[in-house]
Amino acid sequence: MTATQDTLPDSTARGGALVTGAGRGIGLEIARRLVARGHHVHVTDIDGDRAARAAAHLGPRAFGSALDVRSFPACRAAASRTVRRAGSLEVWVNNAGVLVTGPAWQQDERTRSLMLEVNATGTINGTLAALEPMRTVGHGHIINIVSMAGLVPAPGEAVYAASKHAAIGFSLATAADLRIAGIEGIEISCVCPDGVWTPMLFDKLDDPQAAASFSGVLLRPEDVASEAVGLLDNPQPVLTIPRWRGAMLRMFDLMPTLSLRYAPRVIARAQRKQRRYRRRARAGRL
Ligand SMILES: NC(=O)c1ccc[n+]([C@@H]2O[C@H](COP(=O)([O-])OP(=O)(O)OC[C@H]3O[C@@H](n4cnc5c(N)ncnc54)[C@H](O)[C@@H]3O)[C@@H](O)[C@H]2O)c1
Repeated sequence: MTATQDTLPDSTARGGALVTGAGRGIGLEIARRLVARGHHVHVTDIDGDRAARAAAHLGPRAFGSALDVRSFPACRAAASRTVRRAGSLEVWVNNAGVLVTGPAWQQDERTRSLMLEVNATGTINGTLAALEPMRTVGHGHIINIVSMAGLVPAPGEAVYAASKHAAIGFSLATAADLRIAGIEGIEISCVCPDGVWTPMLFDKLDDPQAAASFSGVLLRPEDVASEAVGLLDNPQPVLTIPRWRGAMLRMFDLMPTLSLRYAPRVIARAQRKQRRYRRRARAGRL
């Protein structure tokens, strides 16, 4: 490919990568690690200015643009732009997500649709857009940022959990379809972190409906990003962070009657933990 104004020529690069919702939080940290690994990274976000600022901050191997993952044609166009600028699309990370808490019956249709469209349909759109160029060359890696709420029900976050269950179900079934079709070179990995201290949770320390997000280990976005990017060297279909929490929550999931009976106690305990985090945040220790 000849270098034009729209390409990023670099003989040492590892190829193109795209991250959705990468203007801040976990996505920005993933983009930072992909740049450090040698990828040309397309930093995308629904907020185009935020994506452009993040890309400028990450240096010459990053470029930014607006992408709303709810639009499949927009995802396809972003995939093409990555191939044009970087020469290939090796990695696509579906990271964009939204969380609105509260019992589902208190949420209006617009709110419910927003979570399903961004978290579930957005992941489907991104995966399918990435698969087009990846299937042409027979290799690539799609990493979908899900959540523990994709593995087990999260009280107070029912629609969010529904959207994340949809995302992981789609990802694993599509990975199986690739193998059944004889395509061995394309990986799809799901990352299921516990609560992560990002802007998504910054305004939720006072929200008792968000207690599930504070029920386990509050992670740093840097740690989640390092583990997610580590999947490129050691692919796995599902990575829970931390691993022991994933195993523990899946045990509860095997006993739905017991889990339901204990849900009020589990959430009361999580709310106490959330209050402790709030005190630490107010003391500047979070
Ligand atoms: N923070 C947590 O506790 C936590 C835990 C588990 C999983 N996750 C998941 O991690 C991912 C990243 O979350 P975060 O904590 O960094 O949140 P964040 O709110 O800090 O960042 C999310 C980014 O997604 C972007 N976005 C929102 N709607 C979009 C759309 N329609 N198209 C494109 N971009 C859009 C936002 O502008 C924002 O930059 C999400 O999928 C989230 O569900 C977060």
